[in-house]
Order: sequence, then structure tokens, then C-alpha cells
Amino acid sequence: MSDERPVALVTGGGTGIGAACCRALAEEGFRLAVHYRSSEESARKLAESLPDAFTTRADLASGEEIDALIADLKEKAGRVDVLVNNAGYNVNAPMLSMGLDDYDAVAGMARGTWYLTKLVLRRFMLRKKTGRIVNISSVVGHTGNPGQIPYTMVKAGLDAFTKSLSQELAGRDILVNSVAPGFIDTEMTTELPEEVKAAILSRIPQQRMGSADEVADVVAFLATRASYVNGSVVHVNGGMFGG
Ligand SMILES: NC(=O)c1ccc[n+]([C@@H]2O[C@H](COP(=O)([O-])OP(=O)(O)OC[C@H]3O[C@@H](n4cnc5c(N)ncnc54)[C@H](OP(=O)(O)O)[C@@H]3O)[C@@H](O)[C@H]2O)c1
Repeated sequence: MSDERPVALVTGGGTGIGAACCRALAEEGFRLAVHYRSSEESARKLAESLPDAFTTRADLASGEEIDALIADLKEKAGRVDVLVNNAGYNVNAPMLSMGLDDYDAVAGMARGTWYLTKLVLRRFMLRKKTGRIVNISSVVGHTGNPGQIPYTMVKAGLDAFTKSLSQELAGRDILVNSVAPGFIDTEMTTELPEEVKAAILSRIPQQRMGSADEVADVVAFLATRASYVNGSVVHVNGGMFGG
């Protein structure tokens, strides 16, 4: 167990925006806990490329697996200084054709994020009386998006979680913020139909999708130098929505 370098836990760290956050936080000197659920190989390769990083697995839909994740973090690192709640799940379908199973799978991410954050606070951050929590929400939690009703509900809720938690933690050096990406070039957006992508681009003043690295830069700033930003939603969307 190493208790020297600050540790950053990034959920969904094996892919897309999460992987970019891992690289950016490693650049800032953090030891990375790269969390994954199914992307074991990419999480392992990423961890091998970062100094002293390690992987840790859990399905965030399961409370028991989150308990086990915390035990694993205690054993492998003994501390968590930064938590990036990046993992997210979406099913694209209009409400009238979506069933409860898909709703539950998408909405379950709110429950998992709530429970993981509670345990990271209780087991690590409150003991050290310092920490940074960054929640990756989405512009669609603010604008709405047809075909993504449960996802937009979760993302809007995540920004409310950011605001409420920052207030519950008043008086402590534990800061909680959201980063709300717009349309970012990752697996999640590759799946979108071409006509949907064209419609999206027409609404972005910068006329392009963002990159995962452009989101990760903001996350790294909030996790390190942003000492007077708290309870905020930082939009990273090329100008399509200003909050
Ligand atoms: N791409 C965009 O345009 C965009 C825009 C706004 C917000 N976002 C948000 O950014 C975050 C990252 O998305 P991305 O674009 O990088 O897509 P992505 O590569 O599909 O990332 C999603 C991550 O969430 C993890 N995950 C999903 N369900 C999980 C579960 N039940 N338990 C644990 N982990 C789970 C996945 O882990 P495994 O692969 O290991 O299963 C994966 O690493 C998400 O919260 C997404 O909503 C993305």
C-alpha cells in the first residue's frame, strides 16, 4: 500500500472521456485508479502506460460491487483524493418504445454514482478533510434531447447532485463540480445516426465536435488549481449552450 502520491479514481476510466481524464490527471502528478466494468483490456493497457497506476473493477449498478471496489481501493492505494464520476450509460429510444428494463439500466447510474461518492467521502476524503469531486454530466441535461429521456433525467439530476453535495460539505475543503460536455468524439457519439450528427453540428458555433482531451483539460483544472470553484457546472460544448 502506497500512501504518498495523491490518488485519483476515474470511473469508466478505460474508454473515451474517462481515459483522457486519467491521462490528464497523471500529467498533474496523480496516481490513477482506472475503474472499468467491461473494458478490462483498454483499462489495463492505459494503467500500464501511466506511472504506478492500477485498475479496479465494478458494475456501478451493484451496491455490493461498489462495496468491493472501496475495499480494493483501500488495499491498493489507501486513499482517494480526487473522484471523477465519469461512467455513464445511455439507450437511445423514444419514450413510447422504451421499456422499464432500459429505463432502469440508464437511471441506475444515478444510484451508483450517489453510493460510490458517499463511500469515497466516508472512507477517504472526510478523514483527510480534503478532496475534489468532478461529475461528468452533459449539455443534454440542460437542453433536453429527444430519444434520451432517462439519460437527460440522470444528467440533469447529476448537476443537482453536484449543487446539493457542495452545500452539504460546506466548511470542508472538499469541492464538488460538474463538467457538462457537449458533443464529444467518442464511442458514445459514433453510434449516432449521420443525420442526427449533422443536426447537432449545425447547432455548435465552433462547428465541430469536441475531443475527449478538451473535456479532460477542464476536469484536471477543477481537480487541481480551481480552489474557488464549487457547486458549479462548467460547460464544454463549443458554444452550443451557455448555461
Ligand atoms: N461523448 C459525448 O459526446 C458525451 C457528451 C456528454 C456527456 N458524456 C458523458 O461522458 C461520460 C463518458 O462517456 P464517453 O463518451 O467517454 O463514452 P464511453 O466511452 O461509452 O464511456 C462510458 C463509460 O461508462 C462506463 N460504464 C457504463 N455503465 C457502467 C456501469 N454500470 N458500471 C460501471 N461503469 C459503467 C463504461 O465502462 P466499461 O466500458 O468498462 O463498461 C465506460 O467506460 C459519460 O458519463 C457520458 O454520459 C459524453
